[in-house]
Amino acid sequence: MRTRLSSAILLSAMLGLPACLSSPQQARPSPPAALTPPAAASPAQADLVPPAPPGFGVRRCVNLAALEAPNEGEWGYAVRQADLARIREAGFDSVRLPIKASAWTGPAPAFRLDEKRMRRVDAIIADAIAARLSVILDVHHFEEIHRDPNGATAKLAAIWRQLAERYRKAPDALVFEILNEPHDRLAGDALDGALEAGLAAIRSQDGHRIVIVGGSDWSSFKGLAEFRLPPDDLRLVATAHFYTPFEFTHENASFMSPSPRFGRRWGAPEDRAALNADFDRAAAWARENNVHLFLGEFGVNDRVAPDQREDWTRTVREAAERRGMSWCAWDWATTFKIYDPKEEQWVGALRSALLGDRSAS
Ligand code: BGC
Repeated sequence: MRTRLSSAILLSAMLGLPACLSSPQQARPSPPAALTPPAAASPAQADLVPPAPPGFGVRRCVNLAALEAPNEGEWGYAVRQADLARIREAGFDSVRLPIKASAWTGPAPAFRLDEKRMRRVDAIIADAIAARLSVILDVHHFEEIHRDPNGATAKLAAIWRQLAERYRKAPDALVFEILNEPHDRLAGDALDGALEAGLAAIRSQDGHRIVIVGGSDWSSFKGLAEFRLPPDDLRLVATAHFYTPFEFTHENASFMSPSPRFGRRWGAPEDRAALNADFDRAAAWARENNVHLFLGEFGVNDRVAPDQREDWTRTVREAAERRGMSWCAWDWATTFKIYDPKEEQWVGALRSALLGDRSAS
């Protein structure tokens, strides 16, 4: 059985490590020489996105959706310690941990985070790092901020000030992601303001930690066109999510009402060409902005035929890797699952679609 004690001991060991603080106030550098393609560069080199800042251990990741639900377990999965070892052994190096922190706070202006819920986050982070996984901690489903950016930005900043203070001494394996999938009114200047406030709150506590930021329109590839990175920070990674075509990936999604029935198949030559064109545009955006691009979510609902899920998943994963993007599959064990915790088995051939025959060394 999972013991909170072992997690707590690991966490305090983790927190005991010296914080490695450095000044964030430096200008975004010009591309390192290695990224400036020589005249005779091969097309493959020219296609690559810039590398992530040193210390970013995320290449192959899976989303661990559980704490984004109102209560862990309510949406079908609660994190189990054995799964972290299973994820690592399969060949993933990281998990993304969405948390619905906006629902865990006390009143303004402190917006104090609930300690019991935070201890659970502490334990999962400690267990994951002990299993040699990097962890991306992501503020997820913060509904108010998409409707009312001005009204909710102070709350986002208060949440991040507390998280950054809490994990100030955690190893580099812990990475922060300010906000999942900005949408609706959270775009343009409002989004710039929210990301800058979240980043400033983090940097007031921790000048070194890598921070992931995503653009508007649900952090879609399309949204990249108007995405402006927060200025003057060398420790940023950009993220975008890919669920295209939506009519294929979200077939019969139970969390939509009514669950849509599109009957869309995927895999025709024009589907593959469109996918590659989308990835080319996203990679070009990353190069223009001199930032690493992390594909933070992609996946297909588990009601779609297994061979179709596998084909799309493999194609997307390969498209990302060919362009040097790190990636994170959506998700481990909820509606778009790659592992079935009830059957205790991988779903179809999704493990090899994501990882080939890799296993942890
Ligand atoms: C949401 C999930 C959803 C997934 C696919 C995620 O960002 O948090 O609830 O299943 O996207 O739409």
